[in-house]
Amino acid sequence: MTQSGDGRARRIKIAPSLLSADFARIADQIALVERGGADYLHIDVMDGRFVPNITWGPKIISDMRRLTKLPFDTHLMIVEPERYVEAFAKAGADIITVHWEATVHAHRLIHQIKEAGAKAGLAINPATPLVVLDEILPYLDLLLVMSVDPGFGGQRYIESSTPKLAAARKMIADRRLRVELEVDGGVHEENAAVVAAAGADVLVMGAGIFSTPAPDATIGRVRESCAR
Ligand code: DX5
Ligand code: ZN
Repeated sequence: MTQSGDGRARRIKIAPSLLSADFARIADQIALVERGGADYLHIDVMDGRFVPNITWGPKIISDMRRLTKLPFDTHLMIVEPERYVEAFAKAGADIITVHWEATVHAHRLIHQIKEAGAKAGLAINPATPLVVLDEILPYLDLLLVMSVDPGFGGQRYIESSTPKLAAARKMIADRRLRVELEVDGGVHEENAAVVAAAGADVLVMGAGIFSTPAPDATIGRVRESCAR
């Protein structure tokens, strides 16, 4: 099992991204990854403005809420996220992650998420350096390091994300914070162990799970590869 900085064994969390699931069979797809041992369900909300793609909103999230008890890890790739925090919290989002690039008031927004009763995550794009987190990091429940430019599933992992994750892990450890470090984009069975070893706590995996022949078994193999 991957060792944490203090030598304790760290259990990696796996968050299948429903973006790569078959939306017409969403109940089956959720049941499948739940059986496979998923820790979170990663739900990508896209508005066609912050990113070029459009996905889903609060209504489908509240409908899916009836299907599973797995935590909903909700990744908002939308402009003006402050307008929608309460709606997503009410719909059943357990973690609400907003983009640093989508707001000029990250501090206010992170507190708004917590006041709405959800855990607060902040995402940074590949071109955004870690230094922007200097002031906000202590207030976060989750830091999401994007390892592709957001908007689409199935893109190639940007290799410079690995040292970036290691540096983010060090920032969190040096300050003795309890911020979960999540990585999103291009993670699959072949690179999961390297990404986890760099310090990620949560691996978001879309195509790397749902485009494989048996998504439930893939989750098990990814977990094993990270434990070696
Ligand atoms: C991309 C999304 C991701 C996406 C990842 O903008 O934020 O969550 O589903 O998909 P893969 O794992 O296929 O790169
Ligand atoms: Zn995502």
